[in-house]
Amino acid sequence: MATSTTNGFRGYATPASSQPSIRLGSIAPNFQARTTHGDIDFHKYIEGSWAILFSHPADFTPVCTTELGAFAKLKDEFEKRGVKMIGLSANDLTSHDKWIKDINQVSQSDLQFPIIADADRKVAFLYDMVDQQDLTNIDEKGIAFTIRAVFIIDPAKKVRLTMLYPASVGRNTSEVLRVIDSLQLGDKKGVTTPIDWQVGDDVIVPPTVSTEAAKQKFTDVKEVLPYLRYTSGNIK
Ligand code: BEZ
Repeated sequence: MATSTTNGFRGYATPASSQPSIRLGSIAPNFQARTTHGDIDFHKYIEGSWAILFSHPADFTPVCTTELGAFAKLKDEFEKRGVKMIGLSANDLTSHDKWIKDINQVSQSDLQFPIIADADRKVAFLYDMVDQQDLTNIDEKGIAFTIRAVFIIDPAKKVRLTMLYPASVGRNTSEVLRVIDSLQLGDKKGVTTPIDWQVGDDVIVPPTVSTEAAKQKFTDVKEVLPYLRYTSGNIK
């Protein structure tokens, strides 16, 4: 089907009206796909785990090569947090398999997570991993470029955090791990995290908890303002 941006279609065969709106807290849309680890049903793949789904514009491109190598080297960090990784790039499996060799050579890595072969951008459109400019900046088949998206999904399959980067800007793996740490600590302890928070720093008592209740729940509560209360981040 032809691509159009003027008649209600969002790129390749995807009417704007049928584009799912992926909001924080919504269930991550399911899909079936071919990956470097075989065919998957996404919901079955992530079942019971945290997951990070992250996309790349294309195989054999420089920024993407550095990103995949960096994520591959953090396998133990993601595993420690119970997070399954899955990448996506808009090429086929033969291309992915060859590209992984380059990635591992350049980054001295051993890439072990699956990469979705999304040559027809089916998953990219399902997750709206395409920018406005790229809807008009299409390839020879009439399909738009995939941007760098990150979806962090919790064990209930809810989308908890998204990051969208243009093709020209590589991501920051430390920030991805930091936000996972914040989400997991928040879920476990009912706290929120301030600007530039790092593991071990003080955390914030959310406005829904009174200072009195906070003092019973946490050992130390520092009240800076009636609505800004900190407690130690070393809560077990
Ligand atoms: C890159 O990975 O370097 C890249 C990919 C697509 C467009 C621009 C840059």
